[in-house]
Amino acid sequence: MKQIRTICLASCLLLALSCQEPKVAGTIGADAEVERRVDSLLSRMTLSEKIGQMNQVSAGGEVSNYADALRKGQVGSILNEVDPVKVNEFQRISVEESRLGIPLLVARDVIHGFHTVFPIPLGLASTFDPALVEEGARVAAVEATGQGVRWTFSPMLDIARDPRWGRIAEGSGEDPWLDARMAEAMVYGYQGRQLDATSMAACIKHFAGYGAAEGGRDYNSTFLTERQLRNVYLPPFEAAVKAGAMTLMTSFNDNDGVPSTGNVFLVKDVLRGEWGFDGLVVTDWNSMGEMINHGFGENRKDVAQKSLEACVDMDMMTYGYLSHLEELVRSGAVKESDIDQAVRNILRVKFLLGLFEDPYVDVEAGKTVQYAPEHLAAAQKTAEESAILLKNDGILPLDPASVRNILVTGPLADAPHDQLGTWVFDGEPAHTVTPLRALQERFPGKVTYVPGLVFSRERKARFDDVVAAARRADVVLAFLGEEAILSGEAHSLADLNLKGSQSELLAALHATGKPVVATVMAGRPLTIERDLPHCRALLYAFHPGTMGGPALANLLLGDVNPSGKAPVTFLRTVGQVPLYYSHTMTGRPYNGETLLDDIPLSAGQTSLGNTSYYLDYGAYPLFPFGYGLSYTTFAYSDITLDQETYPTDGTVKVTFTLANTGKRSGTEVVQVYVRDLVGSITRPVKELKHFERITLDPGESRTVSVGIPVQDLAFVGLDGVKKVEPGEFQLWVAGDSASGTPVTFEVR
Ligand code: NOJ
Repeated sequence: MKQIRTICLASCLLLALSCQEPKVAGTIGADAEVERRVDSLLSRMTLSEKIGQMNQVSAGGEVSNYADALRKGQVGSILNEVDPVKVNEFQRISVEESRLGIPLLVARDVIHGFHTVFPIPLGLASTFDPALVEEGARVAAVEATGQGVRWTFSPMLDIARDPRWGRIAEGSGEDPWLDARMAEAMVYGYQGRQLDATSMAACIKHFAGYGAAEGGRDYNSTFLTERQLRNVYLPPFEAAVKAGAMTLMTSFNDNDGVPSTGNVFLVKDVLRGEWGFDGLVVTDWNSMGEMINHGFGENRKDVAQKSLEACVDMDMMTYGYLSHLEELVRSGAVKESDIDQAVRNILRVKFLLGLFEDPYVDVEAGKTVQYAPEHLAAAQKTAEESAILLKNDGILPLDPASVRNILVTGPLADAPHDQLGTWVFDGEPAHTVTPLRALQERFPGKVTYVPGLVFSRERKARFDDVVAAARRADVVLAFLGEEAILSGEAHSLADLNLKGSQSELLAALHATGKPVVATVMAGRPLTIERDLPHCRALLYAFHPGTMGGPALANLLLGDVNPSGKAPVTFLRTVGQVPLYYSHTMTGRPYNGETLLDDIPLSAGQTSLGNTSYYLDYGAYPLFPFGYGLSYTTFAYSDITLDQETYPTDGTVKVTFTLANTGKRSGTEVVQVYVRDLVGSITRPVKELKHFERITLDPGESRTVSVGIPVQDLAFVGLDGVKKVEPGEFQLWVAGDSASGTPVTFEVR
């Protein structure tokens, strides 16, 4: 680790001395005119006005409560005000009544849609469709900017390999490659490919390592080595910076003892120095102040100094900068030039967003874009692409012509609030279309609704009413899962089975002998192994948003063929955490040895395995990363490489044939995985390096070529340098991370 640090420090020697950063291609400060305006304004600012720009406050109540601070230039940004009339008043006071007339950055957590709610980010990732995810983020930006919000605290790029962690819902799952592609898509979507009045600055968060919280308990410490950070946790952030993300948020956790908001290595050395990020870095809510709880600083003054030294520009809700920076400058403890740099980063975003030209929102025009039909259609398509078919014995799709009496049941069948998922501040349940409503509209008079359980945690011993209704039905559609409050921030769980009596409900329905189809809507991959035998098909939808109902109805009825794939490993039991596909190889890999259940009790003492596995649960998950069924089937063949050996600057061209071998048109998410067989450090058994969606008609086959740049196989090895290490590699083209036969190649 020392070596990595030495190299980094050497390469950023000049940069690391202060918060001055270089201008590199892809960073946001490439516009000379903007830089000139930033410097000109900065030169007219007093120290107190500069510090005011570094202060972000939560707006609540009357605007007049903030008027004095706004007039004095003590607020650079507000969060949580979405009433456009009030937003305009906030801006008016700042622009017209403060000395320099600097507009505010108005921020909000627009995480998966504003009014029109899209699937939770884990569901967005299940689409493996960056173009669609970009479209969704654009919709969110159009609606949110329509009410004056110009900065969202999204996307969350935290790699999460522990489904106990409630915030797994908010990210793209376990894989850095998928996460990076989703990160780029969301940055492009929020900000727009060209900046205009509908551009909403993206905030990539939480920097860094937050998803590795020990025990899956939110806010907990992480212990990631620098190499793990660089090979797994940081790449999505770097990709988003290259895509032009304007802002970044530091995380709550301390990694190896250093809280992120005061982490000089992460923010100053890597983000600013190595990546040349000249956007705005904001703390998480009071994460500056929480460094006192961590025991990383004595008081607010101390943590304010540490945050500035780490090159953090804006303080969300600690008031540490506002209260102490002036005094710290006067005492010589901090340099005013570091404050100047922070203010430059803040002003740059304001200029780029055009706030100096027009800080106001057109209230009437903004109303017309909320819940626009095309927004709802995009949300529905996304929900359709995000659902993952995990089991199907052939009962799905249901034949609409033969449906006479459907029983709809379960606590998520008609839960307008819960199907929206976590982090929904602005989406209104009144606009949600639930599966019950969608099915009732589709089959007037043919749907019986008996909820069985009113909410997901409800416990019940008997299900007489719902069982009686099931006996009268041709088919039972059970909508199970988690309420929205069971995932998201501070909502970690230690038990990942379906909550309440949902498993018992499913078992009771199954016992009627009627065909039961389960749909699970949740914020995480639950441990559903015990439920699988009690349904003939299972569709897994991470909380699907406003249009979840029609989307799920279309999937169940076959109007849309499922194509979602698991962005995270589905575990058999919570005791398997962490279990993810791209693990490294042990010296004693599991080889299918005996499990406890295989040994009759009468056998007495017997010898068990000698390898890396659980005696009771083996070594494999319930469903691997990348898994998902379709109503058709796909076959891969003729997987060939154009060469046997590639130079380190070459491109591996893999060609294969994909055939739709079933009876329906369908979309396959083709996945390319690579393994570096021998390295200076042990390497993951597989790593995703490419994916794409291919749609084929029944019987159609297509020959496809994909190029994998050899440089995409680079990693930080023993010497701390990121590079491709020559040697032998394996490559798979398959429909999930556990299938396929590898072809081999060499890098020289
Ligand atoms: C705390 C959360 O960690 C962060 O993700 C969010 O953006 C801020 N609060 C602001 O609401």
